[in-house]
Amino acid sequence: RAMGIVREFQDKCDSPIGKLRNLADAMTVEMHAGLASEGGSKLKMIISYVDNLPTGEEEGCFYALDLGGTNFRVLRVHLGGKDKDIIPTEFVEVPIPPCLMTRSSHELFDFIAEELAKFVATEDEKSHPFPGRQRELGFTFSFPVRQTSISSGTLIKWTKGFSIEDAVGEDVVGELNKAMERVGLDMRVAALVNDTIGTLAGGRYYNPNVVAAIILGTGTNAAYVERANAIPKWQGPLPRSGDMVINMEWGNFRSSHLPLTEYDDDLDVASLNPGEQIFEKMISGMYLGEILRRVMLKMAEEAEFFGDTVPEKLKNPFILRTPHMSTMHHDTSSDLKDVASKLRDILEINNTTLRMRKVIVELCDTIATRGARLSAAGIYGILKKLGREITREGEDQKSVIALDGGLFEHYKKFKQCMESTLKELIGEEASDTIDIIHSNDGSGIGAALLAASHSQYL
Ligand code: BG6
Ligand code: GLC
Repeated sequence: RAMGIVREFQDKCDSPIGKLRNLADAMTVEMHAGLASEGGSKLKMIISYVDNLPTGEEEGCFYALDLGGTNFRVLRVHLGGKDKDIIPTEFVEVPIPPCLMTRSSHELFDFIAEELAKFVATEDEKSHPFPGRQRELGFTFSFPVRQTSISSGTLIKWTKGFSIEDAVGEDVVGELNKAMERVGLDMRVAALVNDTIGTLAGGRYYNPNVVAAIILGTGTNAAYVERANAIPKWQGPLPRSGDMVINMEWGNFRSSHLPLTEYDDDLDVASLNPGEQIFEKMISGMYLGEILRRVMLKMAEEAEFFGDTVPEKLKNPFILRTPHMSTMHHDTSSDLKDVASKLRDILEINNTTLRMRKVIVELCDTIATRGARLSAAGIYGILKKLGREITREGEDQKSVIALDGGLFEHYKKFKQCMESTLKELIGEEASDTIDIIHSNDGSGIGAALLAASHSQYL
């Protein structure tokens, strides 16, 4: 009976290459629709106002804030100009107290401004090389924001674990400015960016062939460099570079080709944002462990998989995190002792047999494989939109994709599966022209670089 549940789940999760190709095509169709008009697609295709990516000549000391991943980060980045290629960075990393994720805008932004003020207080003369100048900040805010300029924008909606009603529709930079004023900090936000945009900028600084950036972390999203004249909804002047970076907000992608299961539907209904971010809920780190818990719970309830009582802890939403799932998935011991200890420590499930533990590993594999393959299809969709999925005669320009986020960084099997699926989609011949790089903490540095190129003192 339990194996029936497992097999049915695996069938529904199946993502053969043909389905992935359909998904990639659906992604490019939605990209066109989102670029054509505001509200034209589930993909918001947000215009970032970044029309110039870093050149490597940026200079000076800039601050960056990074809000929206697992940790909140404050950075001080020293940019050395064109003669130096290493960026010394100082930073602090603070977890956001979970209660602040759902209370009020005021409380969240006060917390951020206070941490920023504490960090600024550690500054020495070297870190503030231009006495008399106002400090400048790049603000990475990893949520969907309708940008109104490079340094302002209103929050469209919260995603991931955040839900603060009174911030929706508000200017994010305005909120931060008010909080900075309250704590007596004089600083100007020179650039407001999404983490994908920051990662793209950070990646481009090191590698001029970077054309897109993907986050696979708590949430998932993508940004890429579009030709400004291919964006019908862009009303502004044509940028000199001819380019405009687009934040796709691909987490909200949806298609009839997605291999959805009853567990995804239930997870969605119970979430803080039902009906939204369906692609994200199948792929990203916030949700993979929770999908696993839901399948295990059904096996316990309907097939007595763990004995005649349903383990109490297994009923707690989000108790099983993706890092736990990753540990179990990577267990190579003959008796699967890591699986046993996670089940015992997290879920208080003792006395599992080896056969049961093998089934759990199989489930981890099904869930991670589906997520990894879907993300590969998304990337392939972007490459198709850019016309870079095939090698063209006489063209040997590389297309580089910058990736970041905890899921990509720490979940090895996810990463490997994503990369091999992308290769499979692209095919042998063109796979030499496409590279994936890990842009470690690129988004904080990228935000500082964009603050530098939008400094008021240029
Ligand atoms: C970091 C970026 O490396 O990855 C952040 O600097 C981003 O801006 C984050 O939000 C996503 O990862 P996670 O796993 O912390 O959500
Ligand atoms: C969520 C956010 C998006 C962000 C992504 C990765 O999808 O909506 O803005 O880029 O998570 O952090």
